Amino acid sequence: MPIKTIETQPFPDQKPGTSGLRKRVAHYQQLHYVENYVQSIFDVLEGTDGQTLVMGGDGRFFNKEAIQTAMKIAAAHGFGRVIVGQNGLLSTPAASHLIRHNKAFGGLVFSASHNPGGPDGDFGIKYNISNGGPAPERITNAVFARSKEITSFRITEEPDVDLSSVGTQKLDDMTVEVVDPVADYADLMQTLFDFAALHGLFASGFRMKFDAMYAITGPYAKAILEGMLGAPEGTVINALPLPDFGGGHPDPNLVYAKDLFDELMAPDAPDFGAASDGDGDRNLIIGRNRFVTPSDSLALLAANAHHAPGYAKGITGIARSMPTSAAADRVAEKLGIEMHETPTGWKFFGNLLDAGRVTICGEESAGTGSDHVREKDGLWAVLLWLNILAARKQGVDEIVREHWKTYGRNYYTRHDYEEIETAKAEAVMEHLRTQLGELPGQNFGSLTVAAADDFSYLDPIDGSLAEHQGLRVIFADGSRIVVRLSGTGTVGATLRLYIERYVGPDGDHDVETQEALSELIGLTSELTNIHRLTGRDAPTVIT
Ligand code: G1P
Ligand code: ZN
Repeated sequence: MPIKTIETQPFPDQKPGTSGLRKRVAHYQQLHYVENYVQSIFDVLEGTDGQTLVMGGDGRFFNKEAIQTAMKIAAAHGFGRVIVGQNGLLSTPAASHLIRHNKAFGGLVFSASHNPGGPDGDFGIKYNISNGGPAPERITNAVFARSKEITSFRITEEPDVDLSSVGTQKLDDMTVEVVDPVADYADLMQTLFDFAALHGLFASGFRMKFDAMYAITGPYAKAILEGMLGAPEGTVINALPLPDFGGGHPDPNLVYAKDLFDELMAPDAPDFGAASDGDGDRNLIIGRNRFVTPSDSLALLAANAHHAPGYAKGITGIARSMPTSAAADRVAEKLGIEMHETPTGWKFFGNLLDAGRVTICGEESAGTGSDHVREKDGLWAVLLWLNILAARKQGVDEIVREHWKTYGRNYYTRHDYEEIETAKAEAVMEHLRTQLGELPGQNFGSLTVAAADDFSYLDPIDGSLAEHQGLRVIFADGSRIVVRLSGTGTVGATLRLYIERYVGPDGDHDVETQEALSELIGLTSELTNIHRLTGRDAPTVIT
């Protein structure tokens, strides 16, 4: 079939955000929107001839159409092979693994992560490089620049590829290999965790609920937890991936996974509850009567990773995004290993992981992962937790409490103000930014400001500098206020306020979180003037 060159007009807004290009579905459905973006990505890559790409997505509405278009452009561009998940499905961590496992040139992940799906929801495309991780800013900036001047794209006129069964086909000269989305990922998990011990845990009557939120981890969790580890049927709920996630918001937090939370807080609660997001890279961990904040989970996983065979030799270092609480820092200090504080977004961990400087990474936004892939990995976090529970023969609550007794507790909350007019959100940032210079040394109640800045990060591996990554006010007692604008929203702007207070090993670890942070929460409103400047009197989501 001939390859056609089709003229197009550039779109002004194809700027990848924290994690790929996310827009409303209707926006993506505009004529040539996908084509322009995918062609812009391929145009900035060098040496793609005959190379292999991995493609797959979280199954959300428009996944099927976009993936067909991308494959046709890849064929026209001269790629030699595309490895694609059956029915176009791949979780984000599984896509990352397939890129690495097959030594592919890169991959395209079709997802808007935890954002709602369906015709009125969001869609996204993200390019990952050969290490399996999200493309660094050097590439995403080049893609954006290219997208603003693109005048044509090339596409094969072949009909759609049948992705419904595993096997190899041709799309023009390009080979399309349709693979089982779960198999290679499940193999990888077996190299990291003690599956015999986990099987024993379930055999001993351990009860767990995993909420797949009608998203991509359903098939993975069913195959691994129920299939390989013998967890009773029904352990995995909402397991069928649906194009609109059943109308829900596939973000595993206390707002959108409230039913799971309530179940774990009930008198006859199961031992362990977990959930993952739209594309399977986030995780929520709840023990019986004990929610574990993602920042604490990172610290706990790092401190206990050696219980799992894949990490038995110890970890080399930990990295966390700047707004993530400093709980993990104390673990790194005790272990005598490196600790890195990076800007928000998984792409900043890639270099550190590649260089072997860190083994475990995490973000306060329910993302944890390790050097086994170059994305955060929801099911991995769940399996590591299970491995730790099996090895320590203790419950989640007991383990968390012991951790606080050893390291102290970082009380932590994030307040989100969603879909604010962009100008108002920027006014809030500006209001705080102009005060940064004069804040150090000032006292507010019991709090003294030790430092205040606009966070920038100098990558120790490639020397690149990322600036304006969030405003920080740091207090003498280790408390912190961080304010930043979200880079993943699709409508208006989202302001995130991150608030943290440290209480030492002998302090009170049983205060309700919002109460423990109330003084800092009040001070945050004062310093940002958020209520007056946005006209909002409360956050949309508190996590
Ligand atoms: C959010 C999270 C961030 C995460 C990203 C992708 O980005 O805050 O930690 O890496 O989603 O899952 P934000 O919207 O804050 O830019
Ligand atoms: Zn995600």
